[in-house]
Amino acid sequence: MPAVSYRLESEVAVLSIAHPPVNALSLPVRTALMEGLTRASADAAVAAIVLTGTGGTFSSGADIHEIGSGAALTSPTLRELQSEMEATPKPLVAAIDGIAFGGGLEIALTCHWRIGSRSARVGLPEVKLGLLPGAGGTQRFTRLAGPAAALEAITSGAALGAERALELGVLDAVADDALAAAIDFARQAARERLSLRVARGLDERLREGTPELFSEFRRRIAAKARGQLAPARIIDSIEAACTLPAEEAFRLERQYFLECRDSPQRRALTHVFFAEREARRIPGIPADTEPLPIRQAAVIGAGTMGGGIAMSFANAGIPVALLEVSPEALERGLQVIRRNYAASVNRGSLDATRADAALARIHGVSDYAALAGADIVIEAVFEDLNVKREVFARLDKVAAPHAILATNTSTLDIDLIGAATSRPGQVVGTHFFSPANVMKLLENVRGRESSAQTIATVMALGRTLGKIPVLAGNCDGFIGNRMLMFYGSEAEFLLEEGATPEQIDRVMEGFGFAMGPLAVRDLAGNDVGFLIRKGRRLPADERWSPILERIVAAGRLGQKSGKGFYRYEGRTRIVDPEVNALIEGVSRELGIRRRSIPDEEILERLLHPLINEGARILDEGIAIRASDIDVVYVYGYGFPAYKGGPMFWAEQSGLARVVETMRRLAPTHGARWRPAPLLERLSAGNLGFGAARSDANPGKCG
Ligand code: NAI
Repeated sequence: MPAVSYRLESEVAVLSIAHPPVNALSLPVRTALMEGLTRASADAAVAAIVLTGTGGTFSSGADIHEIGSGAALTSPTLRELQSEMEATPKPLVAAIDGIAFGGGLEIALTCHWRIGSRSARVGLPEVKLGLLPGAGGTQRFTRLAGPAAALEAITSGAALGAERALELGVLDAVADDALAAAIDFARQAARERLSLRVARGLDERLREGTPELFSEFRRRIAAKARGQLAPARIIDSIEAACTLPAEEAFRLERQYFLECRDSPQRRALTHVFFAEREARRIPGIPADTEPLPIRQAAVIGAGTMGGGIAMSFANAGIPVALLEVSPEALERGLQVIRRNYAASVNRGSLDATRADAALARIHGVSDYAALAGADIVIEAVFEDLNVKREVFARLDKVAAPHAILATNTSTLDIDLIGAATSRPGQVVGTHFFSPANVMKLLENVRGRESSAQTIATVMALGRTLGKIPVLAGNCDGFIGNRMLMFYGSEAEFLLEEGATPEQIDRVMEGFGFAMGPLAVRDLAGNDVGFLIRKGRRLPADERWSPILERIVAAGRLGQKSGKGFYRYEGRTRIVDPEVNALIEGVSRELGIRRRSIPDEEILERLLHPLINEGARILDEGIAIRASDIDVVYVYGYGFPAYKGGPMFWAEQSGLARVVETMRRLAPTHGARWRPAPLLERLSAGNLGFGAARSDANPGKCG
């Protein structure tokens, strides 16, 4: 099968890209397109040309494997192809059925007209990989749809539906049968000698690109795009379209593209992209393991997490029963869910019909018998082993024999919970993150007995719910929270030694976290954090900071009490001298001489211990691969994706540096701060985590 088929339909040459699975514009496709174009241009029997896809896809864009390797620059390049397209004197129409993303849309934008099917979706998602559309995408989109729409669409990378694309002028028409309509229109354009609409030559809408438009937009996305190269260059490139001659603006776009392509951010984002896909592969689970179909679900506990989990099911179209201990507790939980949906509708992020439909899928119940129809039950009651074991024993009696029983515990032993049932093979952890209806990560936890089908089911379920699932082994804190303990403690040690909450948060936010660790503590509630801390039995040699306890004792519970590590006016945090006095008091008491701590030290001391623990987790097989840990941190803990996740970042900045920090800390912090043996081995051999790839099944605890 050729990558592009060529056929003649009475005077119209139809070029169909046929390169499964997604019609990526790899070299064979570009070559075949070029040949098709040349042939159609030269053939006197051809009056017009239609470019289309097959299999419900126009083209998903560049071949992502080619981006880093330079193969994307092998001739014919996308841009050479586009020059050929712009040079053809024959009407050239794109018929877009299904998706046209990235380079796929850039090709379509180079055609003289675009006709989409009703299900067409178009977009320039390059920003998600740290890139900008480098084949004229920022230029042609701006010329067709105007700079305001271009800024919005290209910096977000969002897909546009057919109707919206039509409204914006990205599509010229929408039809039930895009191909038939495109062929008709192409023939008509040739017959009537319509003047060819070359996007490069359109300039009416460029006047809308006023200096205010750009400065306003830069201000608007400043917080979200902080520290990121691609969104900044996309704006620059669109501004160039509006202010410079076309030739110059296209050249600049190219230059910005290369700058992004060669940036560490692009490499980090590409790493995350592949890591996310790799995380789905579980060694030891045969590829043909059929996940259990989930048609009905149930959730026990309608608190913070249970409510969000129920919403996740409902949003994915799965009916869900929600069980609580009392009618009052149930009503409280349902009330929160209703308020959440209403807020989304008010914000405009969800339309009212869909919100109502989702809400109608959530059924409050108070009797366990109502759970008998569920294919999976997720428990989200208090974090108390005895309570959970009781719930599971009861559940085991009423749940359908095939049903999976899952727990949302964040720390407890899955095996002890499973042992309370007669079906430990069907027991598993599904650790959602708060708010559960929003956060992308689903950390699934495998118990000793969890069966292959159980694991395959919760991994598949993650995707059904629109989450990014990662599998972890069963140990205290699993992957994410086990590493986080070190981050949290280190923040307090730094306070004792001379840092301020404000300095620590500024450094971490500067690194790219949405919130620094102390601001996060205030948000989650310092009393909650302290309870968890108190429940932990720490080794006797371990350094311990009394700061959190003192903060709680001072009634500084966090945002909810108007003060914590900061004082709050609404949600605005304000530095509070009282906190500094409290911290200085602790330093004095402990006999620590406060010193000024460099920002770099703060960054390394917060991240290196977390990474060190990540290496232990990897070595023990609790995480299958280092990149799984990166996925956990990017999607569950706000680690900046453009830094690639903690393990990727550590590898880039040198594993030896992590070892060095840990050697320095261990004598005062305790044995758990010793360098992880795996890290020592890797850094001594100058190796990366790839060399540590474990094919062991996670499940054992070190
Ligand atoms: P929560 O206190 O907000 O909700 C717990 C709910 O369970 C309450 O509404 C309570 O009435 C209900 N409940 C208690 N015993 C019950 C029983 N026997 N039957 C039915 N309902 C019962 O707690 P939250 O924060 O939602 O935590 C739930 C679980 O999720 C815990 O295991 C927690 O460790 C875990 N988790 C919490 C996260 C968070 O950020 N809050 C994040 C990830 C996991």
